[in-house]
Amino acid sequence: MKKTILTIILVLAATLAHSQVVLEHKSGDTVRIVVDGTPMLIIGGELGNSSASVPSDVEKHFAHLHRLGLNTVLAPVSWELIEPAEGCFDFDTVDTLLAQARRNDLKLVLLWFGAWKNSMSCYAPEWFKRDTARFPRAHLMDGSPVEEASSLSANVLDADRKAFCALMAHLREGDPDHTVIMVQVENEIGMINEPRDYSEDATLLYNGEVPSPLVKYLKKYRKSLHPYMAERFNPAAGSTWSAMFGGDSYAEEIFQSWTYAVYVQQLAQAGKAVYDLPMYVNVALNSRGRKPGQYPSGGPLDHLIDIWHAAAPAIDVLGVDIYDSGYAAWTEKYHRPGNPLFIPEIRLEDRDAMYALYAFGHHGAMGFCPFSIEDYPLYNRSSAPAGALDLSADDQLNAFSAGGSDLSPIAACYRLLRQAEPLILERQGTAEIDAVLITDDDREHTLTTPDGITFTVRHSYSMGWEPGAKDAHWPEAACIVMRLGEEEYLVLGSGVVITFSDGTGKKVGIAKCESVGIENGSPVILRHLSGDQTHQGRHIRISAGEFGMQRFRLYRY
Ligand code: DGJ
Repeated sequence: MKKTILTIILVLAATLAHSQVVLEHKSGDTVRIVVDGTPMLIIGGELGNSSASVPSDVEKHFAHLHRLGLNTVLAPVSWELIEPAEGCFDFDTVDTLLAQARRNDLKLVLLWFGAWKNSMSCYAPEWFKRDTARFPRAHLMDGSPVEEASSLSANVLDADRKAFCALMAHLREGDPDHTVIMVQVENEIGMINEPRDYSEDATLLYNGEVPSPLVKYLKKYRKSLHPYMAERFNPAAGSTWSAMFGGDSYAEEIFQSWTYAVYVQQLAQAGKAVYDLPMYVNVALNSRGRKPGQYPSGGPLDHLIDIWHAAAPAIDVLGVDIYDSGYAAWTEKYHRPGNPLFIPEIRLEDRDAMYALYAFGHHGAMGFCPFSIEDYPLYNRSSAPAGALDLSADDQLNAFSAGGSDLSPIAACYRLLRQAEPLILERQGTAEIDAVLITDDDREHTLTTPDGITFTVRHSYSMGWEPGAKDAHWPEAACIVMRLGEEEYLVLGSGVVITFSDGTGKKVGIAKCESVGIENGSPVILRHLSGDQTHQGRHIRISAGEFGMQRFRLYRY
């Protein structure tokens, strides 16, 4: 009898695990999202802020995004639209998103534009904005209020939380098939203009003691703290924020960060108690070396990661929004022990195709999402007949052939990623996958595989054969390399030439090479490649402007 009950419990638990959205930790810093038992990469894009506010826009955009090859759309849910009068909810906009996502075979990540959107409180409903006595604002040093809700106000939290929980309850009831796979809590939170809120309440707290849970956390994880925090944190110097963290605007930022993270924790915890979906926050980076307050102070910036981890364990991932130069360096900062790489926003550019390959292949990223993705064309700007890109997505599709080379870079790259998704997911977090990003500053890379073979990856322009090779600036190039078996590999990318060596004195040759597609996780031969296509056996090459996958076997002689 006991055995039967145990079996029933185990079966129920397994069924439950299969009908959920969970984050599965493959290793400390590699996490994958698993939807109803199936892992997936978020091969996504985020909608512009106002692009999902009426049904006709959503219909138009989602059909286009499906054709672009996305599997997931990040879409805002605006507090002012779902709670136009206090306590009266209207989920029409959310239901439209759900219906259109289902129709177009897309998953959704919903962005809660609640009390803060890019520091400001512009998405809060009018009834909230007008009642500043009940819903106080943060204050500047000169005592004046700003349109940024106070992160210390119980009323602000209460109102925001009620709306957020109503949204989560609506999803719990209305989304049994898990169209929504993750939720972003607020958007690019951070105090702008000053390093911290200077209201009386905030100053009182700032002059008081640092809460003991934070001190305990920083002591406990002292050895693995971010180098910035390890240097700043000095409990021996005193118990106030100012004394413990260095007495300057950076100490004020740490305080502000704690108040935001504590707030977000309460929101996320309450939301998850209603409906348990993975949750994350996103960050506006300090990309130009500014001071706290000149950039949004206190958000989940990399130097504040420990504060966010200490205060907000209900937040599963700290996502990074990348709008400035130095892509590879930013990805490095956010792929850390305890934080997988997730890029919910990146400036929309053709080179995002290369950045996506690098994120998934080198950093085991969970997801990659160019911002304002609905503005991205399906076909290459250069190969499109005049005026064609002004057509609707449907007419665009009819106006061109669906040939791979006509597709714009992100669309072409996303098609390959979607095909290779199972192979990538299987290998992320292991030595069986890596990726290379080639930029003007970094035109040659090597990587050594578990077979002990070194790949030297260069830009395809380095051969001097392709148009553009003589230009001073070369467009970015990238590839993912996966090991399929002994000395057998798959390369997926664009603009690369790869040569091989093994470091033992033997030479490495190409035994066989094919251009492949992937069907149901297995490579399918599209063309056998040799001769000019491998430079008579000297290299593996995917030219710039093309996106392709090649499977090849190497041998030593
Ligand atoms: C980052 C924000 O998170 C987005 O919502 C958007 O405002 C972009 N910046 C800029 O357009």
